[in-house]
Amino acid sequence: MPEDVSVGCAKDLTVRVIILAGGKGKRMLSDTPKVLHTVGDKTILSHVIEKAMLISDAPPIIIYGEDLIDEKNKTIFDLLEWVYQDEPLGTGHAVSKALPYINESDTVLIMYADIPLISTKTLKELVRKQGENQQLTVLTADIKVPDGYGRIIREKNKITKIIESVDLKMGQESLTECNTGFMAISGSLLKSYVPLIKNSNKQKEYYLTDCVSIAIEDGRKVDAIKLENEDQVIGINDMSQLARAERIYQNEQIEQLMKSGVRIIDPMRVDIRGSLKAGTGVVIDCNVIIEGDVLLGDNVQVGPNSVISNSYISNNVKIEPNCIISNAKIGDSCQIGPFARIRPSTILDDNVSVGNFVEIKSSKIGSHSKANHLSYLGDANIGANVNVGAGTITCNYDGVTKHKTIIEDNVFIGSNTELVAPLKVDTGSTVAAGSTITKDVAPNSLAISRNEQKQINRWRRPKK
Ligand code: UD1
Ligand code: CA
Repeated sequence: MPEDVSVGCAKDLTVRVIILAGGKGKRMLSDTPKVLHTVGDKTILSHVIEKAMLISDAPPIIIYGEDLIDEKNKTIFDLLEWVYQDEPLGTGHAVSKALPYINESDTVLIMYADIPLISTKTLKELVRKQGENQQLTVLTADIKVPDGYGRIIREKNKITKIIESVDLKMGQESLTECNTGFMAISGSLLKSYVPLIKNSNKQKEYYLTDCVSIAIEDGRKVDAIKLENEDQVIGINDMSQLARAERIYQNEQIEQLMKSGVRIIDPMRVDIRGSLKAGTGVVIDCNVIIEGDVLLGDNVQVGPNSVISNSYISNNVKIEPNCIISNAKIGDSCQIGPFARIRPSTILDDNVSVGNFVEIKSSKIGSHSKANHLSYLGDANIGANVNVGAGTITCNYDGVTKHKTIIEDNVFIGSNTELVAPLKVDTGSTVAAGSTITKDVAPNSLAISRNEQKQINRWRRPKK
């Protein structure tokens, strides 16, 4: 999602971000730790870490529990300060583990690792607002269905406390202004308030949110930024919220594509799980999934139900319905599908035509060549202007090793042919339909290997 990173304050070493990822995520009812579920192509945790790293150059402090021990060892996360929370006793307890890493003079930004869609613009505004009074600033939002969120209690419009959903009293359930979980606080106040948090609540947890009432008792002013739209602060606690976050994320990306002129037939039925760059005049039909880095040149048309991963598709390519293309490079004006499967390390030159039920793997196909029906081409190097007849198979695997098939320019392969690799079919030659070719074919020759047809006259079919 492109973000305006120029808004608000610049990256600052005196801002320290704490990311809370130590909870159990029980409500997900999943063996996968909550923050390792994905939104788009990235884990929820990675989304949050990426945002944190845009806020400050100081390494984010990440509070983690036992289910993230393997994550900690991943080199991509080397730059983080990992701090172990042995038992998930609540968000206040989690933050207490980070206190030794915080300086009194720091501005601390606290982020929850289960809120992936927060915009860096909002985070920067929160830090900027905190800079005005240097005490405590919370990010709130009106949430349409506020169940599960801590509610903001205001007296004479001033925030006095946050009450967790389970601790609400009669009548308070209808309050819709909620705690989003993002808080900016001075290092000195955080260091003095967190040790005062008690667990005298229904869940017997140490709530970070109690910092608000502690600050008020301490005679401080609690500031807030209130968001109009809740989309960027959806907390993911269960599968339904995960699906909702995914849709919001998709909508944002698809909106950007449409703004850049891509025709998306139905924005609700396209998924971008990675990054898509598209030229002008691109049309994407329903139920298309884009994974990893994909480039679509000008005037590319992607038919319904196609999955394209990590591929480069040049100008004027037409992808008919139900194609799967991964790690491939497709030249100008190629025609693909319907029902084609283009597997990794495939390169198609310009004007190649690949039709239905054709599978291509680790192969190069020259310009104006065609494989229009029911073929398997694996480890093949095919020249220009080659016709690969229906049902042609490169027999590339002997059970141990993969072998190459070379087909030079202007070859005609008749239908239902087996090409047993390693094999070279030389320029201009013809292979007769139904042949099993095991020896190299000379240029401009005809290779035929089929049983001669017999004829039995006056044949009577058996009767039932
Ligand atoms: C929390 C807030 C609630 C707010 C909501 C917004 C508290 C007490 N409540 O509720 O006011 O409206 O988020 O989404 O803060 N975590 C730890 N260690 C723990 C417990 C939690 O690191 O011991 C982490 C979790 O991994 C999670 C985050 O803290 O990323 C929030 O915890 P969660 O249990 O999801 O809190 P909510 O009930 O959603
Ligand atoms: Ca949560």
